[in-house]
Amino acid sequence: MKDKIEAIVEIETEGEIGLIRLAKPPVNALGVALRTAVYEAYNTLSNDPGIRAIVLYDEGRFFSAGADINDFGKADIEPTLPQVLKSLNNSKKPVIAALHGVAFGGALEMALACHLRVGATGLRVGLPEVKLGLLPGAGGAQRLPRLTGLARAIDIICSGRDVPAKEALATGILDRLFDAPVRDAGISAARDALTGTLEPKRTDALVVSEDPGAAKAARIGLQAKRPALRAPLKALEAVCSATLPIEQGLAKERALFMELMAGEERAGLVHAFFAERATGRIPERDAESRTIKKVAVIGGGTMGVGIATTLLIEAQAARIETARNGVVANLGGALSRGKLSDEGHAAALGRLECTDVLEKVAEADLVIEAIFEDITAKTMLFNKLDVVCKSGAILATNTSYLDVNEIAAATNRPEDVIGLHFFSPAHVMRLVEIVVAKKTAPECVATAFALVCKLGKVPVRAVVCDGFIGNRILTQYRRAADYLLLDGASFTEIDAALEEFGFAMGPFSVSDLAGLDIAKATRDRKTAARPSDERYSNVADLICDAGCFGRKAGQGYYLYETGKKVAPNPGAERIVEAERRKLGLTPRTFDRDEIVARCLTAMIAEAVRVQQDGIALHPVDIDAVELFGYGFPRHRGGPMHQADLIGPTKLIRQIESYATEDPQFWQVPALLRDMQCEGRSFADLND
Ligand code: 3HC
Repeated sequence: MKDKIEAIVEIETEGEIGLIRLAKPPVNALGVALRTAVYEAYNTLSNDPGIRAIVLYDEGRFFSAGADINDFGKADIEPTLPQVLKSLNNSKKPVIAALHGVAFGGALEMALACHLRVGATGLRVGLPEVKLGLLPGAGGAQRLPRLTGLARAIDIICSGRDVPAKEALATGILDRLFDAPVRDAGISAARDALTGTLEPKRTDALVVSEDPGAAKAARIGLQAKRPALRAPLKALEAVCSATLPIEQGLAKERALFMELMAGEERAGLVHAFFAERATGRIPERDAESRTIKKVAVIGGGTMGVGIATTLLIEAQAARIETARNGVVANLGGALSRGKLSDEGHAAALGRLECTDVLEKVAEADLVIEAIFEDITAKTMLFNKLDVVCKSGAILATNTSYLDVNEIAAATNRPEDVIGLHFFSPAHVMRLVEIVVAKKTAPECVATAFALVCKLGKVPVRAVVCDGFIGNRILTQYRRAADYLLLDGASFTEIDAALEEFGFAMGPFSVSDLAGLDIAKATRDRKTAARPSDERYSNVADLICDAGCFGRKAGQGYYLYETGKKVAPNPGAERIVEAERRKLGLTPRTFDRDEIVARCLTAMIAEAVRVQQDGIALHPVDIDAVELFGYGFPRHRGGPMHQADLIGPTKLIRQIESYATEDPQFWQVPALLRDMQCEGRSFADLND
């Protein structure tokens, strides 16, 4: 017998066993529709005297991605997930969860409320709520420790990590692994539950012993590792409540969950979750992708080595071996971090070819140029590529600032030329700006997007301007930091304030890492075009001229020993003081809030101009650039998300007050005024 409830859950009976199949694409998110359907299906089977056991399962890609993230921040509609799970746990008939693919968050919580859990060998389970600024809010923090013990549950819940099937079995989350089709495995487990071969348990009836040592160690670890985040510590508090009687523990967990749900950390992290997935909405979405089998990278410097996995072309024969070693080291790193399997590693090494013969690019379907940042060198190279490359090959430049239209014009096939701006270290950083030039063909854009997604990276569409999306914003952020430095804040104070805000590194530590000489070369290139009324800070140039190139030189803004920051560089401090004296500036003090406000406002103002000028398609694309390429704190959501939180009125007031000191730098973007007049948010422009 088969019956469908709202077509998102299917009920079926197999003798004395009732089956509930979840069928709500794309991810079986447990929003109100699916919750209600499961609840009704369960009640139907529970009230059927012919049914003695109930199986919950799915035959799609995976069991379920958990609660519907789109519902967060909205009013709860009954039946809530905790209500549904309570009735499953209280069922007089054994309820079995047969899991495959993934069961995350509320989905694992649903399984934990069942009386038995069986899992396919490739299953991954987890309670990743902390990654969304939350904690398990449907009993997960109470029921998981009842199966695994407190210490393991703390580890799983406070990290939000995936737990593979084998570990889930070993730790008591699963009762059995299976290789059979999931429906068969569910039926078989239900039969075994009825015969007593498997022993069904009501999780709520189990007890958890206290483990003060584990809780204390976790608290110290979380405070040290993630001081800016609230969710992991609240999650710890929720798990520790599992030692209370179940009703009290559940009530405590739910209260903590609701507290986090109302917070900015949750809003920022959920925004980041969707930003990661939103950048594919491009006009070229329906264009047919070209086939890419062989990729050539030209340039064996840091960038080229980071990008390359197949054919690497380095013009200077003497540098080929160094470049090869660099790629081999990156692949080795990926292997040891578990990002590559042994077979994948061996295959990648087997594919790798390093040469100084440019003509080899003739074999490539995609060529990525990653030579030094010089327009003449790049146009000359593209001129040659036009001759050598096969018809239909995509010619990409990894430039971070230069005019892709000019590079394309050096070829007779500008429709095949595109910018693919990777971020250093390219084998680690997830962002790739896809720079669409005036004549780039739609298939070329679609192919680039597909390839970048296949690499597991985040593609963001941009059009040509100096610095595209990310570096354009970075320039203004850096200027705000440099002005603060001249006006009286120390670089250590500025770094500390922005690190407290959540950046992994403040702007001056980042400069040291990236190399002061690299940034100086970019500034030198732009000198002629710099407006005469622009305030210019010489400090970075002077520090660079003193041979302090940053971490690689052992000194920059800070001093380094064997690559580790040890102290602020007194030489750099003296240069700052001398420059202030020379300019007749009396240093002022800036508190942390003002440092953050000025840097963030400068960043937001430029981000708004990037949107206003049509460089980015949507505000959320700008946030994705900052989150995945520039270390913007994930829980802050990105500059456009922050702009919505602060609101246009306050931002305009802030810019206008700073403008009294420097009207050239602090200007209110027209789009920000429009948003204020129309009462709209940047989120509205994402639709
Ligand atoms: N709610 C709503 N939408 C979701 C979702 C969820 N839980 N999980 C994924 N989606 C959406 C994605 O946004 C995407 O939408 P789009 O096509 O419109 O962009 C679509 O489903 C497909 O998702 P992915 O592109 O991520 O698909 P993958 O196959 O690559 O990955 C996945 C699938 C591993 C399930 C991954 O989506 C994932 O990790 N999802 C989040 C899981 C999670 O964090 N769950 C916990 C939710 S919080 C919770 O349960 C609270 C509870 O304690 C009360």
